[in-house]
Amino acid sequence: MFSYYGSKSKIVDYYPPPKHKRIIEPFAGSARYSLKYWQNDVLLVDKYETIAKLWQWLQCCNKNDILKLPKLKKGDDVRLLNLTQEEKWLLGFSCQAGISAPANMTSALGEQNSKTFLKNIAENLHKIKHWEIKHGSYEDIENTEATWFIDPPYQFGGHSYKESNKNIEFDKLAEWCRTRNGQAIVCENTKADWLPFKPVVEFTGTVKLKTTEAIWSNIPTNYDCEQILLQF
Ligand SMILES: C[S@@+](CC[C@H](N)C(=O)[O-])C[C@H]1O[C@@H](n2cnc3c(N)ncnc32)[C@H](O)[C@@H]1O
Repeated sequence: MFSYYGSKSKIVDYYPPPKHKRIIEPFAGSARYSLKYWQNDVLLVDKYETIAKLWQWLQCCNKNDILKLPKLKKGDDVRLLNLTQEEKWLLGFSCQAGISAPANMTSALGEQNSKTFLKNIAENLHKIKHWEIKHGSYEDIENTEATWFIDPPYQFGGHSYKESNKNIEFDKLAEWCRTRNGQAIVCENTKADWLPFKPVVEFTGTVKLKTTEAIWSNIPTNYDCEQILLQF
């Protein structure tokens, strides 16, 4: 729906499909995995209140609520527009690319985005009407049988979120991931050491940083079979 730092938009197709009807994204952000499998029974949770409230507001919007919003031009300051807080948050995420909180000033890319951004959202609103969306922390979620798509801030690199890696105890999170009921899919990059992650794909993120995305799952995946170097 909206651009977000660390979003899985470019690589969502690399992850295993859900084995359960219920999908839980405990670190929701822009929830690209759930949007791909939107017909499932989705629960989003994020500790950053702006993200949770933005999703909850989008859920109540109709097409016209979105299409009536102004198209931004380079240099426009979102704070000066006569809009509600949620409307400003939405435009704030569109006015620059790949940001971890709504911005105020519109960049050239933001102006370019605004041509398609609102139309795309309006066309996708029907996908989220049946979702459950909560503000909270991952530890608060009941451990029900589900596909758990777990994408926390990176252990190395996830410092720029409002709710960042500095408040995450990765040993505790590892144990929590290992004890999920159902299918757990955990995202990281190959620098992380809190679970035995396997490389997935090299990826240039929204701020032009190259990382190798990695996965851990409690169910075998295609990424488990690493090439073994044979030495004679
Ligand atoms: C890497 S982003 C998720 C990106 C998402 N998969 C996407 O496609 O956009 C991580 C998210 O975790 C959230 N977060 C950080 N600490 C959290 C916590 N303890 N519980 C729940 N969410 C948290 C951040 O606010 C951020 O939105």
